[in-house]
Amino acid sequence: MKVKDMTFDFSEKLYKSDYKIILGDTLENLKKIEDGKFDLIITSPPYNVGKEYETKKSIEKYLEEQAKVIEQLFRIMSSEGSICWQVGNYVKKGEIFPLDIYYYQIFKKYNLKLRNRIVWHFGHGLHASNRFSGRYETILWFTKTNKYIFNLDNVRVPAKYPGKRHFKGPKKGELSGNPKGKNPSDVWEIVIRDWENELWDIPNVKSNHPEKTEHPCQYPIELVERCVLALTNEGSWVLDPFAGVGSTMIAAIKNNRNAIGIEKKRKYVEITKQRIEKLYEGSLKVRPITQPIHKPSANDKVASTPIEWLNLKMFGTNK
Ligand SMILES: C[S@@+](CC[C@H](N)C(=O)[O-])C[C@H]1O[C@@H](n2cnc3c(N)ncnc32)[C@H](O)[C@@H]1O
Repeated sequence: MKVKDMTFDFSEKLYKSDYKIILGDTLENLKKIEDGKFDLIITSPPYNVGKEYETKKSIEKYLEEQAKVIEQLFRIMSSEGSICWQVGNYVKKGEIFPLDIYYYQIFKKYNLKLRNRIVWHFGHGLHASNRFSGRYETILWFTKTNKYIFNLDNVRVPAKYPGKRHFKGPKKGELSGNPKGKNPSDVWEIVIRDWENELWDIPNVKSNHPEKTEHPCQYPIELVERCVLALTNEGSWVLDPFAGVGSTMIAAIKNNRNAIGIEKKRKYVEITKQRIEKLYEGSLKVRPITQPIHKPSANDKVASTPIEWLNLKMFGTNK
């Protein structure tokens, strides 16, 4: 069934943002957008794994279709702009195909420059039985040119050893770090508290997460916010060509950036509208960017070896 295009405009001005949610097909709608509009295009595209919003096809056919989308994205990104492409694996008969490897070739056809391959590590997920359980996905961050927006200061994290000094050379004795904090690195990983360590951790959006909606593959707003803050300026335009329930749009609006999202499923567009309305009302449940991730303490029952397993001698070297 062909989905009729529909555009929702909101006029609230609580945040200094303009935004538009487009209900319709990505490629068809991208063709209507003017050249060079977006400083950031960030998305998690369909992975071709047979989710409710996609029909699984051969990986060749899937990539052929996505290449047409990327051709348009290249055209509509600004000369100082970035693309962040968040993907995991396509899986066929138990064999995994890391999608970023395939996508890299497509982006390079446009001479886009890879700045980071960010590893997004999350602590929970499906338990595999025929391979190791997958606990990370990646974000390919490309820029169009060598002159690109990068506001590192917006996303610095506190240094582990702020008192460290140069121990030799002309700066001997001077503090070696940056008082604004340190570069957060390209691994966004499990830590006890966000922003307290050099590595970031963004919990995977699962049922006990305050942002969870009925979308099966939502990504965390927090993950997008870090890219928005580092790779755009206030007033920049941000696009999510596969917008789902609007996580990108929320991250952009929340930070006074303008946003466009394209999504083919009406029910997700409706949820996006509701989430944005709640953001404006101040009632949207968003995991705060600084909130620590819950870890059970050693005293929690759930964190100790259950009595039934104590005599099994299966752990470590107790064979
Ligand atoms: C992985 S999900 C994105 C979820 C999103 N990051 C979020 O947090 O809500 C991919 C989305 O792309 C949409 N989609 C897939 N193919 C599309 C197409 N051809 N046109 C528009 N949307 C499409 C799906 O309906 C799905 O919601």
